[in-house]
Amino acid sequence: MSHADDHVGTRRDFLFYATAGAGVVATGAAVWPLINQMNPSADVQALASIQVDVSAVAPGTQITVKWLGKPVFIRYRTEEEIAAARAVPLSDLIDPFARNANLPADETAADEHRAFGENGEWLVMMGVCTHLGCVPIGDGAGDFGGWFCPCHGSHYDTSGRIRRGPAPENLPVPVAEFLDATTIKLG
Ligand code: FES
Repeated sequence: MSHADDHVGTRRDFLFYATAGAGVVATGAAVWPLINQMNPSADVQALASIQVDVSAVAPGTQITVKWLGKPVFIRYRTEEEIAAARAVPLSDLIDPFARNANLPADETAADEHRAFGENGEWLVMMGVCTHLGCVPIGDGAGDFGGWFCPCHGSHYDTSGRIRRGPAPENLPVPVAEFLDATTIKLG
């Protein structure tokens, strides 16, 4: 087993905090050491691929994990959020592409191309505004019920797609897969 493999799944190595679902952290996660307390080589190896336990994330809440030095939003969407995202005509979207690293680059931004789970209940996205890199506010923020970046006023919908403001692209979906019903592998 390589050193990198040795780190996969050891949750204590990763900074883990909540943007909206504070209760999730209180009940579901231990306090893990900050990444910057580790030595750099261990950082890189540990973060190349991580597994995230989402068993404590309830519908309508989200957690944020730090991966490759950046926040990743993981949201368990409600049926209403999914329905809202899927009701949007593609012609209304500013960025027509899925921006999903798991799909071809020209895949459309239909919600089905951005979500995970049997019914599209999971969103996994880099929490970095595509304008100038601020971290958007989540939990229904903004005019489209998703995320809002207060730096310059970019609104993202419940699929993380840019709907208004200066950000040019949808929040990107990183390389990710569900290993089982409650474990997401990033990278
Ligand atoms: S960085 Fe988000 S709107 Fe400018």
